[in-house]
Amino acid sequence: KITPVLMAGGSGTRLWPVSRKSFPKQFAPLVGDQTLFQASARRLSGPDFADPVVMTNADFRFIVAEQLEQAGIRPGAIVIEPSGRNTAPAILVAALMIAAKDPEGLLLVAPSDHVIPDDAAFARAVRHGAGPAREGRIVTFGITPDRPETGYGYLELAGQGDGPQPLARFVEKPDAATAAQMLAQGNFLWNAGIFLFRADAMIQAFRAHASEYLSPVLAALDEAKDDIGFLRLAKAPWNSLPDQSIDYAVMEKADNLTVVRFSERWSDLGGWDAVWREALLERPSDSGVVADDNSTAIDCHDVLLRSDSDDLQVVGIGLTDVMVVATADAVLVADKSRAQDVRHAVSALKARG
Ligand code: GDD
Ligand code: MG
Repeated sequence: KITPVLMAGGSGTRLWPVSRKSFPKQFAPLVGDQTLFQASARRLSGPDFADPVVMTNADFRFIVAEQLEQAGIRPGAIVIEPSGRNTAPAILVAALMIAAKDPEGLLLVAPSDHVIPDDAAFARAVRHGAGPAREGRIVTFGITPDRPETGYGYLELAGQGDGPQPLARFVEKPDAATAAQMLAQGNFLWNAGIFLFRADAMIQAFRAHASEYLSPVLAALDEAKDDIGFLRLAKAPWNSLPDQSIDYAVMEKADNLTVVRFSERWSDLGGWDAVWREALLERPSDSGVVADDNSTAIDCHDVLLRSDSDDLQVVGIGLTDVMVVATADAVLVADKSRAQDVRHAVSALKARG
């Protein structure tokens, strides 16, 4: 069986004001009525999968436990990182935990902030990846790009055809010019941020490319304490770790990557523009208006109007390419092309205290 590892420690500042430090986007229902975290956990449950390992932090532990219970999923482990060190050390922890039981055990690492409506197609892609993963390859899932997105990793294909194939190069978050060039070249896919591999293969990749992680992570795991159902990693070694994603720490350097194409709908809800785009796919409209029950659009085009508070009605008149997102205590009004800049709102508010 494959052990799913759900990454649920990010803070999602670009989806402010719905996504908050204490309640980030993966735990909020953004499209549809399940939360992204619950949808991810469900996608990775069923006969092919063992109980999931969830990597998170102390602030989110009760939300994680509660949302899993609500979804009827029993966790294999909920691991608490003493501080946010990005995905690299968290993935090494999961690999070491599984390797302790079975070095050749398969792990499927997945973010908890994605929309993948077709669970069955995703399960097929995982099955395609399982073969190469069992041979010791690190399998990534590739999405056909449709814009020069700079927020994603890019996968350069070494061969042709639809089957699993070796990767020539992994480029994490290119600048705009490089992204445009890769899109034009046509032999690049987006990295879905989902990885399938054998526990020992990942540990070996860290040994080869990011060996500085090994002893602090081993120590943090060795000295970890069980805290009524949560596994708390030891603080001192953990806090000495570099803060880096798996993409930079390992994937850009690894030479044993294989890509499996995933051709169905996939989205990283990385900003309100992505939420708007996904909502239109769910419910198409000629005017491009996405408005919820608390919002009214009059003569608007390509707008997102949303209020998460029943006490606050939003009305837009004559707007084009604007996003308005309201909660009980905050309102975001932004040009749709500036979705990525919402993170600056969060820093600005933080600076004001
Ligand atoms: N446990 C834990 N601890 N999880 C974390 C941490 C952490 O310190 N930091 C981030 N995460 C979680 C996030 O909650 C998210 O589910 C996942 O790890 C990925 O982090 P993001 O911060 O969302 O990464 P990204 O979107 O910028 O980039 C990654 O995903 C893209 C596709 O969505 C990369 O893998 C890109 O290459 C990829 O294209
Ligand atoms: Mg992301």
